[in-house]
Amino acid sequence: MPVPNINQTNELQAALQTLLPVSASCGVQQVASEAEAFEYEEEGRHLANSVIKRRNEFISGRRCARMALNHIGQVSCALPTDSNGLPVWPSATIGSITHSRGLCCAVAASAEKMIYLGIDLEKTNRLSPRAMERVVHPLESAVIGDDQALASLLFSAKEAYFKAQFPIWGAQPNFKDIALQIESDTQQLSVLEISMNLPAQLREVTLRMKFSYKFVRDYVVTLCWLEL
Ligand SMILES: CC(C)(COP(=O)(O)OP(=O)(O)OC[C@H]1O[C@@H](n2cnc3c(N)ncnc32)[C@H](O)[C@@H]1OP(=O)(O)O)[C@@H](O)C(=O)NCCC(=O)NCCS
Repeated sequence: MPVPNINQTNELQAALQTLLPVSASCGVQQVASEAEAFEYEEEGRHLANSVIKRRNEFISGRRCARMALNHIGQVSCALPTDSNGLPVWPSATIGSITHSRGLCCAVAASAEKMIYLGIDLEKTNRLSPRAMERVVHPLESAVIGDDQALASLLFSAKEAYFKAQFPIWGAQPNFKDIALQIESDTQQLSVLEISMNLPAQLREVTLRMKFSYKFVRDYVVTLCWLEL
């Protein structure tokens, strides 16, 4: 696998800065290939038997999360993992972490300013035709056609949505429970349809959520959030 270089990291950082709502901060890092040590021993206990790649992704993710938290005035602290795999953010903060193929980023915000926050990073050249079929909603398919990069954008935006809602709702929507419209002139997405399978209050909140995205070389990064 080609290792992302420092330029890619800087480009991702710059792209993310342009997407972020003012009340949120981010951290971006390259994932190391040589084994790294956990910054806080207690964070990594559940990964004692994991392969180096997974441990390093986790370590970079935590580092990015602490960078993002530091920008909003939070002192460095351990971010353990709960029983659902979610990072436990310091009280009065929220955040989200993503890693993909050697790159990693995280976003964080004060819980007084932000209620939902999800981030996702994906490669744009990996979705198989079968996976595209699973991800693309009938209302999206005319625009997407067989464009792998656009389908990857939808995949990523729906993962960011999943991560944004999960800490509050614990919902497990599938990819066709939400249809998104890509607004390429503003690099945002809007919600076209949300399935009746989801609770009414979550559907109402979803319609108010914001989505933004940016392509960075052969990656796409997406954000989903709702400010208070
Ligand atoms: C949980 C999930 C969203 C993670 O996404 P991913 O692309 O596989 O992986 P990413 O690297 O982007 O994100 C992983 C990070 O997300 C966080 N995370 C894990 N589970 C999470 C959850 N349920 N909710 C929010 N964040 C979660 C963790 O920080 C994790 O990294 P860490 O273990 O190093 O701390 C994904 O595996 C999943 O289960 N998706 C469900 C299907 C779906 O997305 N449907 C969308 C329908 S709208």
